Amino acid sequence: MASASRDLQGADVFDEAVRGTCDDASLCKRYAVSIGYWKDPYIEYFVRQPKERKAPEISRGYYARVQGVGHLLKAFLQKTECNCQIINLGAGMDTLFWKLKDENLLPRKYFEIDFPSIVTRKIHNIKSKPPLSKPIAESHSGESLLIDAHSLDSSRYAIIGADLRELPKLEENLKKCNMDPRLPTLLMAECVLIYMTREHSAALLKWAAGIFRDAMFINYEQVNMADRFGQIMIDNLQSRQCNLVGVEDCRSLETQKERFLLHGWETANAVDMVKVYTGLPAADLKRIEALEFLDERELLEQLMQHYCLCWATKDSCHLGLAEIAL
Ligand SMILES: C[S@@+](CC[C@H](N)C(=O)[O-])C[C@H]1O[C@@H](n2cnc3c(N)ncnc32)[C@H](O)[C@@H]1O
Repeated sequence: MASASRDLQGADVFDEAVRGTCDDASLCKRYAVSIGYWKDPYIEYFVRQPKERKAPEISRGYYARVQGVGHLLKAFLQKTECNCQIINLGAGMDTLFWKLKDENLLPRKYFEIDFPSIVTRKIHNIKSKPPLSKPIAESHSGESLLIDAHSLDSSRYAIIGADLRELPKLEENLKKCNMDPRLPTLLMAECVLIYMTREHSAALLKWAAGIFRDAMFINYEQVNMADRFGQIMIDNLQSRQCNLVGVEDCRSLETQKERFLLHGWETANAVDMVKVYTGLPAADLKRIEALEFLDERELLEQLMQHYCLCWATKDSCHLGLAEIAL
C-alpha cells in the first residue's frame, strides 16, 4: 500500500512536469510572434510576454514547425473541403481554432484535448477575454453553448479535459461533444507523444486508426534521440523531473514512421526539421533570417536534426490523403 501511494505521487509529479511543458511552448511562441516571425493575434491572451529573450535558434525552429504543420493541415482541409473534423491532442494553449476561423477554414468541428487542469486554465482565459470568446459565440449555432470551468462545447469548437492514456473515457467524452467517426479526421500531436510510454502512444495510434475510416495524423516531435545531442536534451528535461518516457519511438525517422504502420495506418512519412526549414520559400527564409542575428548556424542545424514532422494517413474513401506532402 505504502509503495503504491509512493508510485502515485511519483506519477503525479511527472504529470505535473509534463503539464509545465505547455507553458514553455506558449512562451516560446509568444516571444517569436513578438519579434515578427509569424502573426498570431491570440497568443497574447494565453501567456504573458517572457521576460528573457529566447535564442534565435528556438524561434526559427518554432517558425519551421508552424509553417510545416500549417502546410500539412491546409492540404488536409483542401482535400476534404473543410468537411472534416480536427482533434488536437495535448493542445495546450494552441490558438489554431481562432486562426482557422479568421481564414474561413474552420472544419465542421474542432476538438482539443489536454489534462483537466490545463483545460480549466484555457477556459478561464476564454471566458474572461472577449477577443477569444466572441469568435466562439459567432461560429456557434443551434442549442445553447456549454461553457463551465472544466469544459467547453459549442457547435464548432470543443475543449475536453481528459488523459490521452485513458482511451475509453476519451472516446466517450469526444462522442458527448458530437465527434463523428464517419467524418474525415485530422489528428494532431505537437510534442505530446514523447511524454507517454510506448505502449500508451501505440494504443492511441491504434485507437485512432480503428475508429476513423479516413484520417490523417500529424505528429511533430523529437527524433535522432540516440546520439549525444539527444542525450543532452533528455538530461535537460530530466533535471526538471520531466522524463521523455516515449523516447524509444524517437530514435529515427524510421521508428517514427514504423509506429504508425504497425498500428493500422496505411501510409507514413517523416522528415527532419532541417529538411522542412531548408524547403521553406526563399523569400520567407530571407525575411525571418533578417529578424535576428544568429551567431553560428551549427546549433540551429543540430536542433533541427532532432525534431521531425511525421504524417500518416488512412483513406477508405479515396480522398487522396496519401498524396499530401510537404
Ligand atoms: C509540449 S506541450 C505542447 C502543447 C501544444 N501541443 C503546443 O505545441 O503548443 C505538451 C502538452 O501535452 C499535454 N499532454 C501530455 N500528456 C498528456 C496526456 N496523457 N493527456 C492529456 N494531455 C497530455 C500536456 O499537458 C501539454 O499541454
